[in-house]
Amino acid sequence: MNVGIIGSGGREHAICYMLSKSKKVSKIFCFPGNAGTSSIAQNVDLNPDNFSELEKNCIEKEIKLLVVGPEKPLVNGIVDYFKGKSIKVFGPDKISSKLEGSKIFTKKICQKNNIPTSKFKICESLKETISYLKYSNFPLVIKADGLASGKGVYICRNFDDAKIASEEIFNGKFGRADQILVEEFLDGEEMSYFIVTDGKNFKFFGSAQDHKRVGEGDKGKNTGGMGCYSPSRLLTKDLEFKIQTKIIEPTLNAINERRGVYKGFLYVGLMIKNNDPFLIEFNVRMGDPECQTILPTLNTDLFDVLISCCDGTLNQININFSKLKSICVVLCSKGYPEKFENNIKIKDLDQISLLENQNIFHAGTLKTKTGIVSNGGRVLNFVSTSDNFSKSRDETINLIKKLNWENGYFRRDIGHKVI
Ligand code: AMP
Ligand code: GLY
Repeated sequence: MNVGIIGSGGREHAICYMLSKSKKVSKIFCFPGNAGTSSIAQNVDLNPDNFSELEKNCIEKEIKLLVVGPEKPLVNGIVDYFKGKSIKVFGPDKISSKLEGSKIFTKKICQKNNIPTSKFKICESLKETISYLKYSNFPLVIKADGLASGKGVYICRNFDDAKIASEEIFNGKFGRADQILVEEFLDGEEMSYFIVTDGKNFKFFGSAQDHKRVGEGDKGKNTGGMGCYSPSRLLTKDLEFKIQTKIIEPTLNAINERRGVYKGFLYVGLMIKNNDPFLIEFNVRMGDPECQTILPTLNTDLFDVLISCCDGTLNQININFSKLKSICVVLCSKGYPEKFENNIKIKDLDQISLLENQNIFHAGTLKTKTGIVSNGGRVLNFVSTSDNFSKSRDETINLIKKLNWENGYFRRDIGHKVI
């Protein structure tokens, strides 16, 4: 079968790589992909938010399965657009995607179904927010309701921080805002837990802890993710049971009640406190760089997983992961997450020889006539798996040193909580 993948990051290169190993996959097309995907698939320069153009391409290229990497096309209703057409789309529909597209929608589901999460208040205007904040305890968290590329969350230490955050949100920094979410600050340790679902059943799809801060020791600005380790050291059978029964099952039931069809990955972002899970957020897709970290430990054909979700037959397959410890370190452009330069040549990338337990997944890269150049803040993902985290990290860092890219920097302490 010919498969299309939407997206251009490390997550999509990892998905593309895993699908390229499947005997059931003939040709892969990436919309638009990156330099890494171009060596195993055909990149198509197209804006994936233009659904009719995408459909035309799928028909022309005989694509029968579309895998959606990022959240935006899902929230915009790509699954609903293709409903009833002969192209299967792996991803949740528009109603289900509100789990990521509206933080207030998710909080209301939590409230109605007793799903453990932080206490919260929805405010309808700046004036109401300010009055509420005057009588609040700090720290607290202020969030824009809609998609904000990870930037709509403010951890506020005091009233002044919170006032600035509320003003920015109501002034339209993340698009029109009629409501705002004010949340209690949760203490604990974060963990990401993943499942795949076909709308009826769901199965575990890995766990991880990522490092969002730019600096070593988890300090400095937030980023899209500087690296990750998998599996999470926090995950026990007991904790997993609580995550599934107290959070995932009631959420999927609530989506079914609203006649949503959820076929895809669900990313459950959690705060763990005394072995109890609290929901921080849902994402309706795999994480990036969690996906790059987890997929190399998948022993089942990824195509089988994706197609069985589309067909509603997930209960007929087993999904197996190896017991290996995986570390992903992200090589970024100097300056990221603030100002950085693009179009910096990455020499000798194809000269690096990889062992079977190693991968380099591209993110912000572009193939030009004169070679591969950088094209984003997060540029390359280096991944190693082995029987211990320390060894995986050493091997990963050695690979990065071999490349020795002059415009790159990375964190050497990824996985420090487990090493
Ligand atoms: P979100 O986009 O909702 O995942 O928030 C981004 C990050 O902000 C999370 O990964 C947490 O580190 C932090 N965060 C969000 N909500 C809370 C909360 N209620 N308490 C503590 N930290 C939070
Ligand atoms: N690594 C965080 C995310 O994908 O949202």
